[in-house]
Amino acid sequence: MRVIITEHAAELAARATQVIIEQIHKKDNSVLGLATGTTPIILYKSLCHAYKGGEVSFRQVSTFNLDEYYNLPPSHHQSYRYFMDEHLFSNIDILPENTFLPTCMADEDALEQGSKYETLIAERGGIDLQLLGIGANGHIGFNEPGSSLASRTRLKTLTQKTLADNSRLFSEGEYQPDMAMTMGVGTIMDSRQILLIASGVSKAKAIKDMMFGSVSAACPASVLQMHPNVIVIVDKEAAACIDDKEYFDLAESKMQQLSNDR
Ligand code: F6R
Repeated sequence: MRVIITEHAAELAARATQVIIEQIHKKDNSVLGLATGTTPIILYKSLCHAYKGGEVSFRQVSTFNLDEYYNLPPSHHQSYRYFMDEHLFSNIDILPENTFLPTCMADEDALEQGSKYETLIAERGGIDLQLLGIGANGHIGFNEPGSSLASRTRLKTLTQKTLADNSRLFSEGEYQPDMAMTMGVGTIMDSRQILLIASGVSKAKAIKDMMFGSVSAACPASVLQMHPNVIVIVDKEAAACIDDKEYFDLAESKMQQLSNDR
């Protein structure tokens, strides 16, 4: 696990932007796994900026989002499709037909929708780089504590903790969905590379559990310890519970040195 501790969220976004752009430069038809939530907003802004500055093109890129609320149409302003259009897709040159979210409406079969999503990912050659945020309870995607570490895309019920954490995004009295389709932990682990970003002190314990806790469904993100190619980019606040921060700073500066020397 490569861990980059940044001074603030803006630096976090800049470093994460670099990772994504490098991936697309390496392979212009990259398959990216994407996340929603507050943390990636600044990253998406930075990617849009890089696109406008001619640094990167998404023309051949395909994207698969981690999750989507159950039974919310794409036009709903709380849907993750809406979020992605607003924060990223409508500002870059990605082809809309290459952007996918795991949807399921009430008249559809969730199991069937989940397996269709898995097939679509496989047909595009699998995910090259999966972007993840992390819940304060250690969830990745909407794989809440107790999720099978081998799970695939399916319908999940959100915990009270996640509902409470996300209630800030809904106005008073607004309907807040309590179920979502989500890539499974197994789906996420199949990605060739994973980039996890976290910002703020509310994520500090989850980051510590993810990096140093037992690998357990109690903290689904802890399974990333078993993935061979993970980059974690956190700001100082999210890194607050990591004991030996100096080690990670040193390791990162040595990595930078090596790549500068090349
Ligand atoms: C979003 C997702 C979630 C979020 C997590 C953190 O697509 O899958 O796992 O990444 O809940 O959300 P924020 O960034 O809002 O703290």
